Amino acid sequence: MEIRGKPLRPLIDPQSIQKRVHKLAGEILDAFGNTEELYVVGILKGAFIFTADLVRAMNIPVVVDFLQVSSYGQSMESSGKIRIMKDIEIDIAGKKVLLIDDILDTGLTISEIYRFLKSKGPSELKSCVFIEKEGRRKTDFEADFVGFKTLNYFLVGYGLDWGELGRNLPGIYAVEGS
Ligand code: PRP
Repeated sequence: MEIRGKPLRPLIDPQSIQKRVHKLAGEILDAFGNTEELYVVGILKGAFIFTADLVRAMNIPVVVDFLQVSSYGQSMESSGKIRIMKDIEIDIAGKKVLLIDDILDTGLTISEIYRFLKSKGPSELKSCVFIEKEGRRKTDFEADFVGFKTLNYFLVGYGLDWGELGRNLPGIYAVEGS
């Protein structure tokens, strides 16, 4: 498999992803004290697939919304400057909220979004990332739940893109040479 002439190396297969996502969903509900309902906020675009799978593995009423911040653009590195492009439309004040992102790299994006959501007054706010890259943090942000940990490869699939392609791949791949 390749994207725009760059070979892709399989890292995490779709079955392993589904198994992990179902386990994570259980861990998350336990941590929220088997709450009767949960508010879930996914970060666009990357988290759309992980969010969709995770909420479908939760057997309680879930309210779902998304927010979008300014992206890397053409660069492979986070600029560290976050701008809210699309805010959530639901009121999360007094609610139990789970913030979801696809990848935790420097941590600059999610740490700022976490603060932003915290200021809206949820009763509880926890975070979950599908993949954490090891040794890359530029903040002391720690996600409460982590699906998988990887080294610093450039990753595509399961919502993650390379130049907007590859989000629909059901597994996770490393772009060869990255
Ligand atoms: C990616 C990813 C995270 C962020 C992680 O988003 O979805 O939100 O970067 O990087 P950081 O930890 O270094 O801040 P991207 O800007 O590529 O947008 P996308 O989700 O629309 O692909």
